[in-house]
Amino acid sequence: MRRLFPVTDQTAAPAPDGAPDRGAADREWGLGELAEAYAYPPSAPGREGPWVRANMVSTLDGAAQHEGRSQPISCAADMRIFGTLRGLADVVVVGAQTVRQEGYRPARAREDFAALRAAAGQGPAPAIAVVSAGLDLDFSLPLYTSPLVPTLVLTGAAAPPERIAAAEKAGARVVIAGDGTGVDPARAVGALAGLGLRRILTEGGPRLLGQLVAADVLDELCLTVSPMLTAGDAQRIAGGPAVPVPKRFELVSLLEEAGFLFSRYRRT
Ligand SMILES: NC(=O)c1ccc[n+]([C@@H]2O[C@H](COP(=O)([O-])OP(=O)(O)OC[C@H]3O[C@@H](n4cnc5c(N)ncnc54)[C@H](OP(=O)(O)O)[C@@H]3O)[C@@H](O)[C@H]2O)c1
Repeated sequence: MRRLFPVTDQTAAPAPDGAPDRGAADREWGLGELAEAYAYPPSAPGREGPWVRANMVSTLDGAAQHEGRSQPISCAADMRIFGTLRGLADVVVVGAQTVRQEGYRPARAREDFAALRAAAGQGPAPAIAVVSAGLDLDFSLPLYTSPLVPTLVLTGAAAPPERIAAAEKAGARVVIAGDGTGVDPARAVGALAGLGLRRILTEGGPRLLGQLVAADVLDELCLTVSPMLTAGDAQRIAGGPAVPVPKRFELVSLLEEAGFLFSRYRRT
C-alpha cells in the first residue's frame, strides 16, 4: 500500500518511464499505521459532537454490490481498512437489509486495537446498531444474543411492539429515534451521541447512506474504488431521492494497493 495524497517523502515517485515505482513506499501497512491514517478527529472546544463516517466500496462504474454482496468487489486491503475503521469506532450503524443480506455477526474484540481502544476510553469492540422500521430481523442470531457489547436496534416509535419486545428479550437495546415507524437520521445520531457513542461508523447500505446524506449528518466518507466493472443495475453507494444541491466534500487522503484506491473525503 502506498500513499498518493497528501504527497509526502513516503509517496512513491513515478519511475522514469512513467510506470509506477513499486519501491520502498509500496509495502503492506500494519494495522497501527492504518489506525493512525484513519484516526477520528479529536474532540476540541467547539468540536465535541459526534463524527459520522461512512465506509463504502464501489466499482469503477458505480456498483455498490455484485450479486447482492460487497465481497466480490472488495479485496484484502479493503478488508484490513474495514477492520481498522471498526477498530476505531464506538458504534457501527447499518441498515437492516445489509444485516440480512450480508449475515452480520457481532463485532470482534481484536488484540491489535485493544491498547488504542483502552486509551480512547472505548470498550473492547464497537456496538452494532441496526436501523430498521419493520424489525423483521432474526433475533435468535448471535448478533443479538451473544455480542460483546449489546447490539442496538434503532427504530421509530410506531415500530411493531411485539417485535420491540422480541428484540429486547434477545438482549438488544432498542433506541427510539423517530416518531413514525422510521428513524430520523439526525435524531439517531443525537441518540447515539447521548449514549456516549460519538465515533460513529456507518457501513451503509445505500438506502441508509442516502438518508444520512440527505439529512446532512455525514461528516466523512471512506470510499474504496475497486478497479472492476460490473455493468448491470446494482445500486450506487447512496440511494433515495437526490439532494437539491450536491454536497461538496474535500479529499483528505488517498491510498492505493493493487489498483484499489482508498480515499477519505471530509465535508467542506
Ligand atoms: N458497497 C458497499 O460498501 C456496501 C455497504 C453496505 C451494503 N452494501 C450492499 O447493499 C445492499 C443492501 O443495501 P440496501 O440499500 O438495500 O439496504 P440498507 O440500507 O442496508 O437497509 C435498508 C433497510 O434499513 C432500514 N432502514 C433504512 N432507513 C431507515 C429509516 N430511516 N428508518 C427505519 N429503518 C430504516 C429498513 O429496514 P426494515 O426493512 O427492516 O424496516 C430498510 O429496509 C446489499 O446488497 C449489500 O451487499 C454495499
